[in-house]
Amino acid sequence: MVVSMAPFKRKSDVTRRPVRFTTRDGRKLTLRLIRPADAPLLEDLFYRLSPESRWRRFHALTDGIPPERIAEQAGTMANVDNRTLEGAVVAVAADDEGDRIVGVVRLARPPGKPDAAEAEAAVVVLDEYQGQGVGSELLQRMLQLARHMRVKRMLAVFQPDNAGAIRLFRDLGLPSRLETSHGISKMYTELPE
Ligand SMILES: CC(C)(COP(=O)(O)OP(=O)(O)OC[C@H]1O[C@@H](n2cnc3c(N)ncnc32)[C@H](O)[C@@H]1OP(=O)(O)O)[C@@H](O)C(=O)NCCC(=O)NCCS
Repeated sequence: MVVSMAPFKRKSDVTRRPVRFTTRDGRKLTLRLIRPADAPLLEDLFYRLSPESRWRRFHALTDGIPPERIAEQAGTMANVDNRTLEGAVVAVAADDEGDRIVGVVRLARPPGKPDAAEAEAAVVVLDEYQGQGVGSELLQRMLQLARHMRVKRMLAVFQPDNAGAIRLFRDLGLPSRLETSHGISKMYTELPE
């Protein structure tokens, strides 16, 4: 007997190849794993973020940081193997002036602990791209990255009044708990196998 199998569509996996995404207002983006050559683009993203977005992402005042330090940090963040200690997915817009990173989500295990079950997640979207679905798409792709990196639990750190970002993570619909103390909220999320 011949059994016919209904065709099924496998969801594209950003850890295998870049994927396309269209924002709610029609802007085309490519989402892909970060690579070392992205360092200058990450640096550019940092300078383009509003002070509020920077504060909410880095939980620190960033105004007085010397440019050399920013460049060095961008280099460190771009030079990851997307497998053991750290990984990131970037959302890239391309125009006549070249590529621009407009959003990034990263997962980082504690330094020196490549076997840790838990990794810290952090996300930021360029202000003029916020509210367009980019953040939720990046979080979905982060789940693929987490599977690729064999991360079992995710920690995300927020200022307690960052209701939008907390909702964004809750909307993943995964088991999570939120703890707030000393002016900082930490959300622990159990990730699917
Ligand atoms: C949090 C952040 C990444 C969201 O990115 P985004 O691209 O604007 O998110 P989306 O457009 O995908 O929004 C998805 C949902 O998140 C929620 N949300 C996002 N931003 C919100 C805001 N400012 N206020 C209320 N809800 C918000 C909404 O529920 C939204 O639902 P919708 O789909 O009905 O609009 C972005 O606002 C940002 O970069 N903030 C600064 C950095 C930060 O706070 N990072 C989190 C700590 S690491």
